[in-house]
Formats: sequence, C-alpha cells, structure tokens
Amino acid sequence: MRQLALGGFFLSVAACQSADPIQSAPAALPEPDPAAPAAILGTLETDALAAGQAIFAERCVVCHGPDGKLGNNGARDLTKSNLNTNGRVYIVTKGMGKMPAFKDSLTEEEIEQVAAYSLTLR
Ligand code: HEC
Repeated sequence: MRQLALGGFFLSVAACQSADPIQSAPAALPEPDPAAPAAILGTLETDALAAGQAIFAERCVVCHGPDGKLGNNGARDLTKSNLNTNGRVYIVTKGMGKMPAFKDSLTEEEIEQVAAYSLTLR
C-alpha cells in the first residue's frame, strides 16, 4: 500500500516535470490556476453546510425532524417551503408563531448556515 502510494507520487512528479513550463520557457511564470479559487470556495461552502447541519440537528430537528418534514408543534414541512435563504434567515432570526426566534441563541453566521442547510433538504 505504502509502495503503491509512493509510486503514484513519483509518477505525478515525473508528469509535472515534463509539463513544467519553467523548463521550456524560463522567463514565463505559470499562470495562477483559475480553478483554485473556486475549489477553495467550494470547500468553504461545504464547511458552512456541515456547520448548518450540526446546528439543524441540535436546534431544529425537535420540531422539523431530521428531513425537515416532521411538523411537530405545527412546524412547516421545510421541503415544501418556498422561502429562499433570506426568507429563512428572517424567520429563524425573528421567529414566527410557535417557531421560536433564534437571534439570541445563534449568531448571524450560524443562522445563515442553518438556513442554507435547510434549503438542501428534499
Ligand atoms: C418549537 C418548534 C420549532 C423549532 C425548534 C424550529 N421550528 Fe421552524 N417552524 C416551527 C413552526 C411552528 C413553524 C410555522 C410557523 C408559522 O407559520 O406560524 C416553523 C416554520 C419554519 C420556517 C418557515 C417555513 C415556511 O415556508 O413558512 C422555516 C424556514 C423554519 N421553521 C426553519 C427552522 C429552523 C432552521 C430551525 C432551527 C434553527 C427551526 N425552524 C426550529 C417550529 C419550530
């Protein structure tokens, strides 16, 4: 296993060297990879959704259920909600009817994360 991984490493180093622009044109620096920022953003987004999922499990499941469909205490089926992120942030922040307000127990960022996560429920 370890040898396989090492072999892969040397192969990729060899591949890099043959395609290395510095070897053929020493004056030209490689362009920054345009995909890199997107990749980083993608990771951030995944982290935010994971955080939102954890908050949802802790704060929302009791009424909305793990899939958002439970409807305990008169809760809405979140998979049928037409509210976008802003609308959800507003309701989670301020509360509505029997839905409690979370502005004192969650930060704005946490509310955005949990609202974004709730949009992924199907
Ligand atoms: C104590 C039960 C309870 C908890 C806990 C709760 N909700 Fe609710 N939620 C409700 C009720 C009840 C409604 C319906 C309010 C109304 O329409 O009067 C609702 C409505 C909503 C709506 C609006 C849906 C729509 O389209 O009208 C969203 C979004 C929502 N909840 C998200 C959340 C999130 C996210 C959490 C966790 C941070 C959460 N809720 C925690 C009871 C709860």
